[in-house]
Amino acid sequence: MSATSITIHFTLNGERVSAEIEPHHTILEVLRQQFALYGARESCGQGLCGCCTVIVNGESVSGCLYLAAMADGGEVSTVEHLDADGELDVVQQAFIECGAFQCGFCTSGFILMSRQLLDRNPDPTESEIRHFLSGNLCRCAAYPEIIEAVKLAARMRKSAGAVPA
Ligand code: FES
Ligand code: FES
Repeated sequence: MSATSITIHFTLNGERVSAEIEPHHTILEVLRQQFALYGARESCGQGLCGCCTVIVNGESVSGCLYLAAMADGGEVSTVEHLDADGELDVVQQAFIECGAFQCGFCTSGFILMSRQLLDRNPDPTESEIRHFLSGNLCRCAAYPEIIEAVKLAARMRKSAGAVPA
C-alpha cells in the first residue's frame, strides 16, 4: 500500500468486495490483477475497440479507460457473471452455436454488448444490431456470425419466454 493508494468497495458480480488501488488504476487493471477476472481484455487501450467492456451500474464502459475509483460504491459485472449459476447465458450459447468468434479476443465484449442490446430491445433488426455493436471491433472479422448469433439469441430468448411474444 503506497501513500497515494485508496480503498474502494463495490459489488462485483453480485458479491461485495474491496480493493486497494492507486487513483490512476483502471477498472480493467483491478479486475484482472486483483480478482483474476480475465474475460475483459485490453487491446487498443484507447476506448476504441470494446474488448475491455464491463458493465458498471448497468451501463457498458470501456474498462481500459474507466477509473476504478469511479466504481466505488457501485456495481460491476463482467462476462464471468453471465454463467455464474453454472449455465451459459443464451447469448453465450448462440455465439457458440453460430461460431461467432475465431481468436475470441473480442468475444466477451461482444457478448456483454449483445446482452445489453437484447435487454433493451428484445427483437432488434439487423441494422439495429449493427448500430449497437458498432463500438466493438473484431480483428478476425467474424461479423456475419456475430450478427447471426445475436439474431439467434433473440429467438432463443423469445421462445424461452424471457421476453413478451
Ligand atoms: S481496449 Fe478498451 S476499448 Fe480497446
Ligand atoms: S474473434 Fe478474433 S478479434 Fe474477434
